[in-house]
Amino acid sequence: MSAKAPPPPADEAVVSALRGVIDPELGDNVVDLGMVRGVQVDAGGEVEVELALTIAGCPLRTQLRGDVEARVGGLPGVGSVTVRMAEMTAEERSRVMSRARWKARERPSATEIPASARVVAVASGKGGVGKSSVTVNLAAALAARGLTVGLLDADIWGFSIPRMLGIEGRIEAEGTTEAWSMIPITKPVGSGQLKVVSMGFLAQGEDEAIMWRGLLLNRALQHFIENVRWGDLDYLLVDMPPGTGDIQMGLARMLPRTELIIVTTPALAAAKVATRAADMARKGYLRVAGVIENMTAFVCEHGDSYPLFGQGGGQRVADDIGAPLIGAVPLDPAVALGGDAGTPVALDGEGPTVEAFASIASRLVDEVLPVVEMSGCTARLLDRVEAALDS
Ligand SMILES: Nc1ncnc2c1ncn2[C@@H]1O[C@H](COP(=O)(O)OP(=O)(O)OP(=O)(O)O)[C@@H](O)[C@H]1O
Ligand SMILES: [Mg+2]
Repeated sequence: MSAKAPPPPADEAVVSALRGVIDPELGDNVVDLGMVRGVQVDAGGEVEVELALTIAGCPLRTQLRGDVEARVGGLPGVGSVTVRMAEMTAEERSRVMSRARWKARERPSATEIPASARVVAVASGKGGVGKSSVTVNLAAALAARGLTVGLLDADIWGFSIPRMLGIEGRIEAEGTTEAWSMIPITKPVGSGQLKVVSMGFLAQGEDEAIMWRGLLLNRALQHFIENVRWGDLDYLLVDMPPGTGDIQMGLARMLPRTELIIVTTPALAAAKVATRAADMARKGYLRVAGVIENMTAFVCEHGDSYPLFGQGGGQRVADDIGAPLIGAVPLDPAVALGGDAGTPVALDGEGPTVEAFASIASRLVDEVLPVVEMSGCTARLLDRVEAALDS
């Protein structure tokens, strides 16, 4: 380790990071479920986590291990992560079960985002680097693969998602003033689907709209997290506003399972700001899952490449924060045109930019944040919980 390596994290920091690991079937994080049996951090930053599974042969085992390694490994000062898997004792299992049962009955989840959905916030340090363009095109590329992708426009005041997707709907609210839900606007893409919420969809003028627009403006992000009836989702992409303000903190607090993708331009100055933003996020225990470089070299019709905005920024950020560079999107007027026309370039058919988004989507699905497979072990337990609740 180099001399300037940060000190190893405190045990509590590791536990906080583990709150970001969700058992998708039991619908809660592994800490609150009591699955974390022990955490050990040695002076060299080697971390050992013991995780007790409900059933030893759990098919979610690999995923949970990967998520623990990623979350804890993302903390500053961590050298390596060892996950030891154990099986719960009958007593532990019944404690987890009664907790799941209690939760299902007394405290229905504060969010309707399915526990199995991957939540990915697209953020940057600087504004205008292409967060919204990347979010929209990545969402479109994922949906084109047949996935169901939620898109939460967390840029409350500067929303741009509706225009970029060419959607002019109005979100319907259901329920009463005390208990209401918003229904996202859906847009089919190939065999997949986009489900979108944005302040841009809140109509003004009509009485009912004004009523809940007022409710919303106050705490818009919270309402978007708590009151949207998403239905099934494989991914939820969150388009962040520029900077590292309240929205980011709010997301870390309300949805600690969120993982970040940092967008940067190739310029090294922008990369520095992006790294700072990533460090801020990690202080709030949000994991950075990867980096996307946007506005990479312009490729002319002859195939020559012109790095107009510099070179190396994406790799620099990735190296600095120890996250993978997931891909690079060329500087391409078609991105801007598609954004203005409401037809994401990623759906255009072919070309380097289309390929860039398709490749980022497949790396996300195949390596960085695989879709959560629900054909698992604790499902059986949950079925029993539900049966017990019904009876
Ligand atoms: N790869 C690209 N090639 C060409 N133009 C791009 C590219 N990516 C984004 N743009 C353009 O750059 C401008 C800023 O992009 P965008 O709005 O996506 O950035 P942002 O980071 O979301 O901005 P803000 O911080 O204001 O939310 C837009 O006009 C967009 O069309
Ligand atoms: Mg934006």
